[in-house]
Amino acid sequence: MKVNFITSLNNDGGNLIFLCIKNKPLDNYLNGLNKKFKGYIDKAIKISAMEFNNNSFADIIMPQGSNSDRIILFGIDQTKLNNEYAYGKLGSFITTVLNNKKIKNAKLVSTDFGNKGENEANIIYGMALNTYRFNKYFTDEIKKRNNYFNTVTIISKNANVLERLWNRYNAIKEGVFLTRNLVSEPSNNLTPALLAKEAQKLKACGLKINILEEKKLKSLKMGALLGVAQGSANKPFVVTLEWKGNPKSKSIDFSFVGKGVTFDTGGISIKPSGGMEEMKYDMGGSAVVLGLMKTLALSKIKSNISAVVGLVENMPSGTAQRPGDVVKSMSGKTIEVINTDAEGRLVLADAVWYAQKIFKPKNLIDLATLTGAIIVSIGQEKAGMFSNSDKLSMLLEEAGKEVGEQVWNMPIDKSYEKDIKSDIADMKNVGSGRGAGSTAGAIFIKRFINNVNWIHLDIAGVTWAKSDKPLIPKGGTGFGVRLLEEVVLRYLQKN
Ligand code: BES
Ligand code: MN
Ligand code: ZN
Repeated sequence: MKVNFITSLNNDGGNLIFLCIKNKPLDNYLNGLNKKFKGYIDKAIKISAMEFNNNSFADIIMPQGSNSDRIILFGIDQTKLNNEYAYGKLGSFITTVLNNKKIKNAKLVSTDFGNKGENEANIIYGMALNTYRFNKYFTDEIKKRNNYFNTVTIISKNANVLERLWNRYNAIKEGVFLTRNLVSEPSNNLTPALLAKEAQKLKACGLKINILEEKKLKSLKMGALLGVAQGSANKPFVVTLEWKGNPKSKSIDFSFVGKGVTFDTGGISIKPSGGMEEMKYDMGGSAVVLGLMKTLALSKIKSNISAVVGLVENMPSGTAQRPGDVVKSMSGKTIEVINTDAEGRLVLADAVWYAQKIFKPKNLIDLATLTGAIIVSIGQEKAGMFSNSDKLSMLLEEAGKEVGEQVWNMPIDKSYEKDIKSDIADMKNVGSGRGAGSTAGAIFIKRFINNVNWIHLDIAGVTWAKSDKPLIPKGGTGFGVRLLEEVVLRYLQKN
């Protein structure tokens, strides 16, 4: 979606959008329009029975003699718009309405919603997010879920303020769209090598990219990650990304680490075939990390941030690892692989170790579609959060509520350590009983975390939308990009 900004409605032609707040005289909004049509507009509003509930509109086709073709009014109840996400949802609704009417472009006459323009910027952000489509594989135009709406001109006295804010939200949008594209891409066209290539492209945004090939991973002794990869004909990769936005400082504020299993069959502990196609999105953690790094680079964030993604494919074959195998991780710790389908934690064990070793970050956040159990626990509305830092987890919780990407704090205290005790190695890769499957995964990763504020986000439930949601057409969601960008900004304000 292209966004233009101008300061006044000097030419009131085309399609005009007004956001009308409950109990405010309409004249506040409509001045600047030809007075001749005031009676006509008033009548049209009455007949359309527009409600002021953020979910209702009046579509007025203008008569001959009017400059504008069409005026669409949206009825706003600002008392119900209590966070940035609510404004985003409103924007998303506007796009839905315009798309249903096959409108390609419109002028949005701005209403000041306070919060220094942030609220308005979130409306534009919500409009843009809902224009996303993953249409590349349709050869038949008719089958595409078309998006018609593609250009909005914002008319505001504060056009320059909004334009500056939009730079940031546009960067978030770019990151989210990259994440969605990667998550929705089928695994035959997104092997570890191809995903590494996608990461390489981010060099264009000013990121430093380093691609580690299998030989290098062997010399680093990443036995846990390599064990997962050994069943696949597609070679594994680890990619690091670095953003130096604060050259005066040597230290790294955040390292983000992502699980990038480009397809998860389960390996020899093979998954049932029903629904297995969904495991193309098992690289969701790495996709969020790439999208986030793109966002942070595009918005030139004043912080040093680094990232590591572990890219492998989990396949059963004559070379695959077996249940019962013992592998040695880069940390030196040994792992009994009871279940080859608990592969994400094996990849992360080496990826988080490597991130700490080479970047020594102050904070480390890993993201992974780690367990089906997190969906059993908390469904698909929120990500599961496991942390060793109350301060950092509070920060995520607060930011998540504001931006509509929520996290839920899950238990990870010492009492769960015994669950992954192995009889023959330092640990095993699954829990003992049936319960607390997501915590077993988290407590496993924790064994590879040293002195760093750490958060593990289990995003298995939130990475994919089976049906349309506000701001998210069904498919890859991009959950995590908006949240973590917000977290980095809030962290920088406090530190
Ligand atoms: N990639 C899966 C988890 C997953 C499930 C992601 C559903 C998205 C949707 C993960 O590698 C896995 O297979 N986990 C196992 C762990 C078990 C073997 C301990 C699971 O959840 O069943
Ligand atoms: Mn698995
Ligand atoms: Zn997996």
